[in-house]
Amino acid sequence: MKQTITFILNGESIEMEVEPHLTLLQLLRERLSLHGTKEGCGMGECGACTVILDGKTVNSCIFPALEVNGKSVTTIEGISDPQGKLHPIQRAFIEYGAVQCGFCTPGMVLSAKALLDENPKPGEEEIRNGIAGNLCRCTGYLQIIQAIKAVSTKT
Ligand code: FES
Ligand code: FES
Repeated sequence: MKQTITFILNGESIEMEVEPHLTLLQLLRERLSLHGTKEGCGMGECGACTVILDGKTVNSCIFPALEVNGKSVTTIEGISDPQGKLHPIQRAFIEYGAVQCGFCTPGMVLSAKALLDENPKPGEEEIRNGIAGNLCRCTGYLQIIQAIKAVSTKT
């Protein structure tokens, strides 16, 4: 049976009916047409579907949509400014060549954001831990780590 949930999505209040089996990833991509959040493994292992829920990252592919009730969700669509200017983390990813095929990028950027929001000056080990749940098949991670470091030294 469908249930009504209310939550904040990228700063806007949303109320909608959802089925109990719906995942947060399905809610975002299929019901709200927010296609920036990617589906990789669908099993909680690759991090492509990462979003931020009340300041912490979650794998939306295995997170029940019902559980966002009363919470705040940030997707990659929600981190640029209202004029569409890219977030500093996104700009650093481009500058350091941390985006190749781009499939991991939204999840990686959100993991970096959650890390830097909590710890603005992480060391390399902390950066590696912060993105440990996000797999990248292209970059070898070095450029990603350099990009996150560059943002942290600017703040
Ligand atoms: S698609 Fe969610 S963890 Fe891989
Ligand atoms: S840039 Fe291709 S998977 Fe990370």
